[in-house]
Amino acid sequence: MTTQREHWGSKLGFLLATAGSAIGLGSFWKFPYVTGNNGGGAFIVVFILFTIIIGIPLLIAELIIGRAAQRSPAGAFTFLSSQVDSHWKMLSWSCFIIIFLIITFYSVVSGWSLNYTLLSLLNFTQGKTEQEIRQVFDIMYTSPSLNIFWHFIFILLTTSVVYKGVRKGIEQLSKAVAPLFLVIIVSLVLYACSLPGAKQAFAFLFELKWNELSPSAILQALGLSCFTLSVGMGIIITYGSYMKNDSDIPKLSVYVSIINILISIMAALLIFPIIFSFGGTPEAGPGLLFQTMPVLFSKLPATLLISTTFFLLIVFTALTSAISVMETLVAIITEKFSWSRQKAAAVLGIAVFICGIPSAGSGSNLIFPEWKSIYGIDFFSTLNELIDIWLLPINSLLIVLFAGWWVSQELKRKQFAANSALAPFYFLWNFLIRYIVPLAILIIILENGKLISLDWVSWPHPNP
Ligand code: PHE
Repeated sequence: MTTQREHWGSKLGFLLATAGSAIGLGSFWKFPYVTGNNGGGAFIVVFILFTIIIGIPLLIAELIIGRAAQRSPAGAFTFLSSQVDSHWKMLSWSCFIIIFLIITFYSVVSGWSLNYTLLSLLNFTQGKTEQEIRQVFDIMYTSPSLNIFWHFIFILLTTSVVYKGVRKGIEQLSKAVAPLFLVIIVSLVLYACSLPGAKQAFAFLFELKWNELSPSAILQALGLSCFTLSVGMGIIITYGSYMKNDSDIPKLSVYVSIINILISIMAALLIFPIIFSFGGTPEAGPGLLFQTMPVLFSKLPATLLISTTFFLLIVFTALTSAISVMETLVAIITEKFSWSRQKAAAVLGIAVFICGIPSAGSGSNLIFPEWKSIYGIDFFSTLNELIDIWLLPINSLLIVLFAGWWVSQELKRKQFAANSALAPFYFLWNFLIRYIVPLAILIIILENGKLISLDWVSWPHPNP
């Protein structure tokens, strides 16, 4: 065991950092629009259900692996499978590759939110027509220099926090950002809910329209409940490896998930009343944040304040998620090659910046000009889909199989029960992790690979 491994300074620090990893663009960008596309309230119910039976068990599993091994994914799998040349070593590299790819384009999107924060401060919507405001996004998207500039700034911010370490960097930043984040989101939600469209938004979000919920939407809820908790890629294993033995893993996992669900719902409560007040459509897609919202903000009083704080919120949320990715990359490299944290952070920061350039130049066909005509979608979306559809589900399946079948029962029980009021739930958790979670993920993989199609299943509509 590495004796000088750094640990979280407090349970609150761990909770805020992990919640910070969970709450991200997924909560603000994906959650509202897939909810909007899939019948509102019914989707939220299914999302919560999957968080309980799939997301939380996976979160607990990764924390247990990390804390028991006191290692990042670099060594956790081989250490716990107690074989020197274990095949599980592969899993440390697949985690590395997945999150490395994710951060290269996550940072580009996060860069857009930095750009929009500055634009908002400059009151960019003033005097512009709706069309012109929407065009601002297209201009930015197709400008390689702007994309690269903001991608660079975002990576610089992320790397400089990770450079400082677990307590002085990640934990301190999470503690500083959390209150500010909460004040901004609560004020914006309260404001949005005072708008005339609030009633319609409430009805839309909380009415259970089961008939609009297709089986493939249910799979989306399942995928989202994992992605948004940052599980399946080794990030939570890394955060677990900085945990001390006196923390209650099941309880903290439940807390993180509750916070994540509440913030996702708040994001929807912030976005939908504004949409309904001004006649936007909930199915606005990924352009929701950067096209629809600025248009709507321009119709509100105090545009500058509302728009700036909104995009600042997005920056915060993206930053704390990106930090968890960068920290995991740094942890893997420092453990594999015995580099110092500072050296690893600097080298990885540069590597992520360089490898992110094709994504940053995606809208302008900077690097692979023929990409779109050959593959049908641009480079940026190709990466996104590759990860969403294949890499992440397969990696999650391997992690859960490892946790369910390769880690010793005794060790799992000890880790689960340590200081935990939820210790009696060990058997339920272990059952979920061995059978239900792998089966659910397998169904996602089969459906993604078009080997099965759940939309063939005729679907009962309890509440047509
Ligand atoms: N959980 C984050 C979100 O909801 C997503 C994330 C992706 C975090 C990749 C880390 C890594 O946005």
